[in-house]
Amino acid sequence: MTRHMVETHAIDGQKPGTSGLRKKTPVFMQPQYLENFVQAIFNGIGGAAGKTYVLGGDGRYFNDRAAQVMLRMAAANGAKKVIVGQNALLSTPAASHLIRKRGTDGGIIMSASHNPGGPKEDFGVKFNTPNGGPAAEGVTEKIFEATKTITEYAIVDAQDVDLSTIGTTMLGEMEVEVVDPVADYALMMADIFDFDKIRALFAGGFTLRFDAMHAITGPYAKAILEDTLGAPKGSVVNAVPLPDFGGGHPDPNPIWAKSLMDLMFSGKAPDFGAASDGDGDRNMIVGRNAYVTPSDSLAVLAANATLVPAYAGGLKGVARSMPTSRALDRVAEALDIPCYETPTGWKFFGNLLDAGRATLCGEESAGTGSDHVREKDGLWAVLFWLNILAERKQSVAAIMADHWARYGRNYYSRHDYEAVDSAAANGVMEALRGKLKHLPGQVIEGMTIEAADEFAYDDPVDGSRSEGQGIRIMFIGGGRIVFRLSGTGTEGATLRVYLERVETAAAVLQDNPQHALSAVIAAADGLAEIRSRTGRNAPDVIT
Ligand code: G6P
Ligand code: ZN
Repeated sequence: MTRHMVETHAIDGQKPGTSGLRKKTPVFMQPQYLENFVQAIFNGIGGAAGKTYVLGGDGRYFNDRAAQVMLRMAAANGAKKVIVGQNALLSTPAASHLIRKRGTDGGIIMSASHNPGGPKEDFGVKFNTPNGGPAAEGVTEKIFEATKTITEYAIVDAQDVDLSTIGTTMLGEMEVEVVDPVADYALMMADIFDFDKIRALFAGGFTLRFDAMHAITGPYAKAILEDTLGAPKGSVVNAVPLPDFGGGHPDPNPIWAKSLMDLMFSGKAPDFGAASDGDGDRNMIVGRNAYVTPSDSLAVLAANATLVPAYAGGLKGVARSMPTSRALDRVAEALDIPCYETPTGWKFFGNLLDAGRATLCGEESAGTGSDHVREKDGLWAVLFWLNILAERKQSVAAIMADHWARYGRNYYSRHDYEAVDSAAANGVMEALRGKLKHLPGQVIEGMTIEAADEFAYDDPVDGSRSEGQGIRIMFIGGGRIVFRLSGTGTEGATLRVYLERVETAAAVLQDNPQHALSAVIAAADGLAEIRSRTGRNAPDVIT
């Protein structure tokens, strides 16, 4: 087998974001584009010689061919072994688990998460470190540096490796082990949850719809929910991963998972509905006539964690991203455990999980997870809910009502203004920044401002500091407005306004969130001058 050193030149813009390098698929398919980035990963992490990696992706367009290129390059760079999911498929949490379980030197995940896939849509490549989590900034910075200085990449001449058959083959000197993408993950789930109880729930006639959105969780959900736990056949819909996700937008929220929402609010609703995203790390939970916000879901999981075997001994602590509602804090207070507030981005949970300070964590952007892996985990959250439902034998709506009666309800909503002119969006933030110190004590829409600041995070584990993480306005009584600019938008700027108000009066715990939050919404517009500064009269997306 011949090893070639191919001459190349640096390509601009290969800077990995929070979740690796994400670009339009045609950009990734340009000559040498993928090759440069993969070589930069190997160069940035100190070479691949003698190393073992995990490789897999969410099955989107170009996943299969990119995997073959990466295998040929890993072999040419002297890697000892690559463990690949069959047909180059692995959900993000399953890849994280495999990296940890096999003690590898890391892994490469091909995904652009919840972004659409296809010849004209998005593709992505992300490197995860040996703890199973997304590479921290120090590592991605080295990879980025390597993309700027690259002059050649290594690749072997070889036919495609057969990734359809489970087993081990050789690519030159390198071992390629093709594994069942579901098996190890399913074993881990069986260790965490009470599968017998969930099996009994389904045997008793409990019904479910899980919408895999034509993405990676289809095979996982079929194997675990239908084949192992006995959910009726057909409970998992859109279960075959397609390269273009069926032309859809594989993002589990009430907007993109509309058909599931329609079903759950119709006369034909099953007992429980759930969905996951392109690469399987996000989740949506919805009961019959009862949508559960990600922030509430996180709080309910924390409050009921001891019903799950793996967490029966209690939680060491919990963590949420700053804009996530403070419903979790109320549970943590009752449990007398620490609640950490981190900047947006899953990577900030890694240190807390590694250090054993937090067991559960989550974000308002539909991610929930625990110390079982180092990524958020969609199907895990669904199984967590099923375990709770199996134990409590109540409906989702009843569990929510009970939760709010006990802890109060943090009414919560996020208003997004998308593709805003960047200068106008920065102007909104700058003007708010200028007002901060005068705000405490002011009364707006009948609410008194208790404190106002720009969020900065001091990591209690490694001492690093992250500044400029969003503007917070806190009201007496627990209400809050957070303003921040999205770090994942692709066009102009996305201004996110997170609105929250605590309600404890029993008579008004079942209000419509937009109605319950009307004063907070008016206060936000007044404070940030959104209409006058951006020319927008209403948000583009309300979650
Ligand atoms: C990705 C990250 C999440 C983050 C989300 C929203 O999904 O993995 O950790 O919460 O993006 O980020 P944004 O900056 O767009 O609000
Ligand atoms: Zn995702």
